[in-house]
Amino acid sequence: MENFTFNNPTKILFGKGREAEVGREASAYGKNILLHYGGGSIKKSGLYDRVVASLKEAGLAVVELSGVKPNPRLSLVREGIRICEEQKIDLILAVGGGSVIDSAKAIAAGHYYEGDVWDLYTGKGNAEKALPVATILTIPAAGSESSTGSVITNEDGDYKRPFDHEILYPVFSILNPELAFTLPDFQVACGIADMTAHLLERYFTNAKPVGLTDRLIEGALKNIMEYAPVVLADRENYDGWAEIMWSGTVAHNNSLNTGRIGDWASHDIEHELSGIYDIAHGAGLAVIFPAWMKYNYKHDINLFLQWAVRVMNVEQKFRSDEETVLSGIEAFEDFLKSIGLAVRLDGVGIDDTRLEEMADKATNGDKRTVGNFVKLNKADVFNILKLAL
Ligand code: NZQ
Ligand code: ZN
Repeated sequence: MENFTFNNPTKILFGKGREAEVGREASAYGKNILLHYGGGSIKKSGLYDRVVASLKEAGLAVVELSGVKPNPRLSLVREGIRICEEQKIDLILAVGGGSVIDSAKAIAAGHYYEGDVWDLYTGKGNAEKALPVATILTIPAAGSESSTGSVITNEDGDYKRPFDHEILYPVFSILNPELAFTLPDFQVACGIADMTAHLLERYFTNAKPVGLTDRLIEGALKNIMEYAPVVLADRENYDGWAEIMWSGTVAHNNSLNTGRIGDWASHDIEHELSGIYDIAHGAGLAVIFPAWMKYNYKHDINLFLQWAVRVMNVEQKFRSDEETVLSGIEAFEDFLKSIGLAVRLDGVGIDDTRLEEMADKATNGDKRTVGNFVKLNKADVFNILKLAL
């Protein structure tokens, strides 16, 4: 097991109706709140009215910035930074999914950073401080409600890049599974693919032995696969959503990463798909992850075998190790298809014309590798994209 420090400070308020407490919780951070949200789903569902009522009741002053798009854009982040400065914002409240939360985190870090906020996403600069961010989660998926990450798209060049820092942990997050009842099928499926990928990125590690977290990740994966069809078939199944929502948070709050070094190549490659083609992150992962597995399983066939048998329930009898692993990958693809996702690039509207460009961007012109389990260069990334065709 690797050495680790685990300190996730995000306070979680989980359960029915908990958004009513947002005013009281937020008031601990000051008077001026920036309410940040997306394209209108929270107005349609009535959540917006409940949130504003709670904030007003607590005597807070609310400034709004809406319009966050999936694959959140740098231009809106810059506008948010300007607003925070002008309005002397004390707390940014993100109400929505990963895109809204990531945009809020970028604004929060950009507020104190003296240079251009994009520097934080290219590695040119670093931040030491951020405004507090709080969240009300409306889609179990990205795990940003309790993570150190923020992923932003720069429209200038279509670069989607992550920034990771402990200052980005939200101060509190409200998780009410009922808020997921209004999600369309496609977003449910993308969210499930994303949280599954967060677990798999952590699972495929060179750190050994890591028995406890192996078992915890396997359990979380099995739980998600059990409840995904439940919430897809019955959108108002509270207990099913409670399982999925909490799994999505635990998958990415770093507790399951303790003592391990995660891979993250599939995420880095997927960011090129979302950055260039503006597809949903979870839909991109459903295509890239199986291809990454096929390309890399030989690096540690025993770990893949363990996953195939314990998680994908593949019978090992009468099969070679390799056949077992390949059956596990096939079963994983079948699961993704069963929730309505494509597992090949053409299924997400991507042909072979820009594969080389994506491989080049992911590896910064072959000057860096992606992934930790296996370090992949530009040719490897290109081959994985070809496997995904
Ligand atoms: O904008 P609105 O109108 O709110 O609609 C959203 C959006 O169109 C809709 N939606 C959300 N909750 C809803 C709802 N519609 C109906 N009812 C509800 N309850 O869903 C659409 C997608 O929202 P989005 O926030 O983009 O989804 P998600 O949570 O999957 O976030 C994806 C983003 O998170 C990043 C991804 O790269 C992607 O940009 N990630 C962030 C991470 C992090 N910060 O730690 C880690 C992840 O790996 C991921 O990369
Ligand atoms: Zn993800």
